Amino acid sequence: MAALGCMAAPQLDKRDYTISWEEAYAKAEKLVSKMSLEQKAVLPTGVGDQQGFCEGYTAGVPGLFPPLCLNDGPLGLRRASGVSVQVTALNAAASFDRKLIRERGVNMGEEFRGKGVNVQLGPGMNLMRAPRAGRNWEMGTEDPFLMGVLAAETIKGVQSQGVMSVAKHFIGNEQELNRHLYSTEMDDRTMHELYLWPFARSVEAGVVSVMCSYNQVNGTYACEDDYTLNKVLKGELGFKGYVMSDWWATHSTDKSAMHGMDMSMPGDANADSITGGGLWYGKNLTDAVKDGRVDEDRVNDMALRIAAAWYKVGQDKHFPELQFDFYNVSNTPIVDVQGEHRKNIRALGAASAVLLRNKDNILPLQTSIKKLAVIGSDAGPDPDGLNPCQDNSCANGTLAQGWGSGSASFPYKITPLDGLEFRTPSSVEIVSHLDDWDTKSAAEVAKDADIALVFANSNSGEEYITVAGNVGDRNNMSLWHNGDNLIKAVADANENTVVVIHSVGAIDMPWIDHPNIKALVFAGLPGQETGNSLADVLYGDVNPSGRLTYTIAKQESDYSANISSSMVVKYSEGMLVGYRHFDAKDIDPLFEFGYGLSYTQFKYSDLKINAKDDTVKVSAKVKNTGERDGAEIVQLYLGFPESAGEPPKNLRGFEKVEIGRGKSATVEMQLSKTELSIWNTVKQAWEIPRGTFTVYVGASSRDIRLHDTFDI
Ligand code: BGC
Repeated sequence: MAALGCMAAPQLDKRDYTISWEEAYAKAEKLVSKMSLEQKAVLPTGVGDQQGFCEGYTAGVPGLFPPLCLNDGPLGLRRASGVSVQVTALNAAASFDRKLIRERGVNMGEEFRGKGVNVQLGPGMNLMRAPRAGRNWEMGTEDPFLMGVLAAETIKGVQSQGVMSVAKHFIGNEQELNRHLYSTEMDDRTMHELYLWPFARSVEAGVVSVMCSYNQVNGTYACEDDYTLNKVLKGELGFKGYVMSDWWATHSTDKSAMHGMDMSMPGDANADSITGGGLWYGKNLTDAVKDGRVDEDRVNDMALRIAAAWYKVGQDKHFPELQFDFYNVSNTPIVDVQGEHRKNIRALGAASAVLLRNKDNILPLQTSIKKLAVIGSDAGPDPDGLNPCQDNSCANGTLAQGWGSGSASFPYKITPLDGLEFRTPSSVEIVSHLDDWDTKSAAEVAKDADIALVFANSNSGEEYITVAGNVGDRNNMSLWHNGDNLIKAVADANENTVVVIHSVGAIDMPWIDHPNIKALVFAGLPGQETGNSLADVLYGDVNPSGRLTYTIAKQESDYSANISSSMVVKYSEGMLVGYRHFDAKDIDPLFEFGYGLSYTQFKYSDLKINAKDDTVKVSAKVKNTGERDGAEIVQLYLGFPESAGEPPKNLRGFEKVEIGRGKSATVEMQLSKTELSIWNTVKQAWEIPRGTFTVYVGASSRDIRLHDTFDI
């Protein structure tokens, strides 16, 4: 059985285009030594926003280095036709399934490569600090360890296909409101242990690029911050790739260059090579070198880092030509790169559905029922078409991704109604009602069905588009489209009500105690195969094993952080984000981090801990004691010695194990030095605190089945 914590890499039988940094630098040095200062300055300089298909471009140096195309986003190639809409990062995280996550990365890499796009602007790894933050669904979780695994597996997958990944947004970009203006203030330890953690794991995974964010960090723009870019990212983490700015996040030439930013995006299409115009790099960069404001070494370094990144993912060999291909211009793609990727999308969609309640074992659906009611616009197609609005900004049918640069155009979308119709035997009648506002008719339709499935959603996105008055971040935690009233009306009418939610994160559930709501499924935002994935789970073809990647509170005021309208966003809760806060303050959540049910049950036993030097091995036996085969997400939380001042429990390992009914498996987990360490702010180093540690192994952050201690 594979180990937790330090996991063995999942094996996928695809070729890997990457080479080591050493080899990449050796090649890059040879190449860059042939370039003049002006040529070197071409590499870090964006030539304008959307000057063609791609979001960003750099110009090439004829005969030496090609132009690069950079494009969003983290779940698929934005605005293109003939591409897949993968499950969102939110769902990838909820699967806790390293192998499927890696495969998703490989598939995205294949699609970007197939279209000739050099750089994928993703993955995003800002933590879900404030539950209303608009881009939470693009990121995945409130927990840094889980985010680190998600980021690393995604990056390894994408880059193996010869496409550059970009870890974004560095750092402190946890809300949309005023994102170009506010300054994030967080203490050093919080930064290291929470917000930096996923970036550190990305660097270890070999990520070739990091995107600095719009906001300021402790009073300095992230893209000209010497401390976070030079000292932390390139120094402490040893990042060898290049730092690119978020779009228009550059505010200076000299400061950005000297403080560690290596590529300015998107640059200025109108700038000419004589005046430089509004371009921060390019002509302005070479002038700064000539005036002695920027060291020439820095420009060498920028060019080297970019060239090395390009070699590292093997783009010097047979990289495909760029295929211009807008979704809204042509529905007949020049190249269709979807391959068989829908299989992973469907599998991940099912593996990430979180079953939060299942009273009387109402699920899985029995094929012996006579009538199934499907209620709510979230079960059906968007009445305005497949991709009616810019960047998915008016999803009126079922919600399968949020809006913004992190969205992509659906090649097709299997709605829940489609998925159920495909899967339901002809002996069962399906009746549906997709109008959310006519709750009276909804109740009528639901009334005499054996089971009523009622669907609702909650959406969010990026601040450059306002949807229904939400400027990216959510205005509140309520369901959209009259969802609460619809659910209540259906539950009042049918005593076998099953609620299905498609949401960007936690929501208020004023109906949660309704006795007729027998089951509750949080399906996240599962991409193009959403309906098939859901039917797989509802009918038990896939036994649910998805887990919440965030805390659902009883009331919003229970969370430790919310969107701030101040120009200084203080992370005053420190490390007490998400479940860490609920544990520390002894607040009962409605549904805790890591929670999710199965159609079978698992029993835990035989916890063994072997602590030796700097590594700790943990193992436990898990038995499937129920009636069905299933998968369990075994979670390891670490309690540090009292004196360390850590939150009570910290996720430090997990493993998804498939166990046949009646069978057992031994799960082994290993905690590395970093995973046992805390950040010592005085020594500025990771350090294992001395004392008694507690290992908690269980099925969620609150459902601890085994625990024991060890001393260091
Ligand atoms: C977003 C980035 C995105 C970039 C390019 C920015 O507004 O914050 O995540 O990659 O635009 O579209």
